[in-house]
Amino acid sequence: MSKVIVMNHPLIQHKIGIMRMKTTSTKEFRDLVSEVAMLICYEATRELPLADIEIETPLVKTIAKEIAGKKLCIVPILRAGLHMADGILNLIPNAKVGHIGLYRNEETLEPVEYFCKLPIDARDREIFVVDPMLATGGSSSAAITMLKNKGISKIHFLCLIAAPEGVERLKKDHPDVDIFIGALDERLNDKGYILPGLGDAGDRIYGTK
Ligand code: PRP
Ligand code: URA
Repeated sequence: MSKVIVMNHPLIQHKIGIMRMKTTSTKEFRDLVSEVAMLICYEATRELPLADIEIETPLVKTIAKEIAGKKLCIVPILRAGLHMADGILNLIPNAKVGHIGLYRNEETLEPVEYFCKLPIDARDREIFVVDPMLATGGSSSAAITMLKNKGISKIHFLCLIAAPEGVERLKKDHPDVDIFIGALDERLNDKGYILPGLGDAGDRIYGTK
């Protein structure tokens, strides 16, 4: 059964509060997407396996720790996930990055796929799919299905804001995927927008509306 972890850290709550304000500028909004993604990633990587590594400090030899195995791969869902990936790369600069292009048809709310490019060794890596908004769950569920169809299994999902409807959909479709959420909101409106939410994440990041 998937774990659903909602962040209660004051820094995350504070920053998401600013993102929700309609007066927040495009630049400030974009910076906050990266910062909050980095903070959520800190929590989402808490259980990564470690291995011992022998090193030399300036004084002695000792055993230090390093992240075991083939390390990580961040997979942003385009467009809005891109800035989350940028923030996470500040924390994990050696992670590889795959891209999945999906947008929601505004009438049917069904995801439409237009791009998928992944690192060649993605199957060996721990995958972090990132998208600021988990609304109906259609986009994130489809993205994770695309990854699974390519033989990828170790998948986590990170978002800034989720609606309960989206969380339920993702838990049902992908019970093996842990979900890390910055803030869990009340519900969707009749156009599939999260309430209270922050509006259209892609448009606010890129200033397209
Ligand atoms: C937004 C958001 C998610 C999706 C969430 O993207 O970034 O990908 O909607 O909605 P869902 O859970 O109901 O599928 P959008 O389709 O607006 O594309 P964009 O990032 O290119 O703006
Ligand atoms: N996509 C967004 O960007 N915002 C929402 O509230 C729902 C889907």
